[in-house]
Amino acid sequence: MNAIEVQNLRRVFRTTLGVFKRSTKEVVAVEDVSFSVASGELFGLLGPNGAGKTTSVKMLTTLLIPTAGSARILGHDVVKDAEAIRPRIGFIFGGERGLYWRLSAIDNLRYFATLYKLEPEVTKKRIPYLLELVGLSDRGREKVEGYSRGMKQRLHIARTLLHDPELLFLDEPSIGLDPVAAREMRQIVLNLQSEKKTILLTTHYMFEADALCQRIAVINHGCIIALDTPAGLKKHVQDLSVIEIEVFGVPQNTLDQVQALPFVDAVSVENRDQKQALIVQSPRGSEAVPDLMTALAGLRVGRVDVREPTLEDAYVRLVGGRHDA
Ligand SMILES: Nc1ncnc2c1ncn2[C@@H]1O[C@H](COP(=O)(O)OP(=O)(O)OP(=O)(O)O)[C@@H](O)[C@H]1O
Ligand SMILES: [Mg+2]
Repeated sequence: MNAIEVQNLRRVFRTTLGVFKRSTKEVVAVEDVSFSVASGELFGLLGPNGAGKTTSVKMLTTLLIPTAGSARILGHDVVKDAEAIRPRIGFIFGGERGLYWRLSAIDNLRYFATLYKLEPEVTKKRIPYLLELVGLSDRGREKVEGYSRGMKQRLHIARTLLHDPELLFLDEPSIGLDPVAAREMRQIVLNLQSEKKTILLTTHYMFEADALCQRIAVINHGCIIALDTPAGLKKHVQDLSVIEIEVFGVPQNTLDQVQALPFVDAVSVENRDQKQALIVQSPRGSEAVPDLMTALAGLRVGRVDVREPTLEDAYVRLVGGRHDA
């Protein structure tokens, strides 16, 4: 049985506009999403800001009711059988609060254990085990207010594992973490998977999705536009090379000119320290460099590299447009 089965899921929000002349506007957050996740799979949901990832996760965790379509979690319907689902899943939403800062990590976990009605004997063993799992054993007695962001995020993971859920929803677990903390978070996710948990992960970090996920769904404007293994997604850009050009300030009209070149498939800009990198996808590879240089005439240009496409390049091609990192 699949851990997650989603069919034509849809969610529309109605928001009120104006103070005096009130009108309502409909926002289609999730238009039509279908996918399934096998038991024990680590599945990624990728997509630009506002694509509908969090809204989808909220429907799957029974926090939001779908407008249409259906979803089954561990065999139960998210609307009709929400009560059966809740004790068997865990979720964290990146950057959320929901920990008591004046309490220590241990006391936070004890508090939530009581809330989840865990047996005291279970809690006694489970809390040290979880603190060990997320690498907080030696800091467990300190107040959470003194914790770094990475430590708080790890404590969130421990909290959501208290009742030993078999299915986990991690919505941007490494958001706002420094590279070392983000790497530790990825290791925790891998450890969870080796404990046979099913995990649905959303992230904006492509290398993270590439390193962790068995399959990835790319969602854009509320629809899934690709669903494949990381290697399968990279095949979308097999015919392309990526040219990275260091620039020091690049005006919008130059970007538009580059995008309009017939041999250019996609352009994006990445900020790197004092400079920027113009990332151009083109089937012509290094042969495109002289023409690109002509298009950039008058700009200060640094290093030029031609490389193989990554998952991020596949993503840029799929979601289209220009994405400033
Ligand atoms: N409560 C709400 N009321 C109105 N509109 C909403 C609400 N929640 C989400 N939306 C809208 O639904 C769309 C999808 O939002 P969602 O948070 O699911 O995107 P996301 O993919 O998680 O984005 P991000 O990567 O920025 O977290 C957006 O246009 C958002 O503004
Ligand atoms: Mg989100």
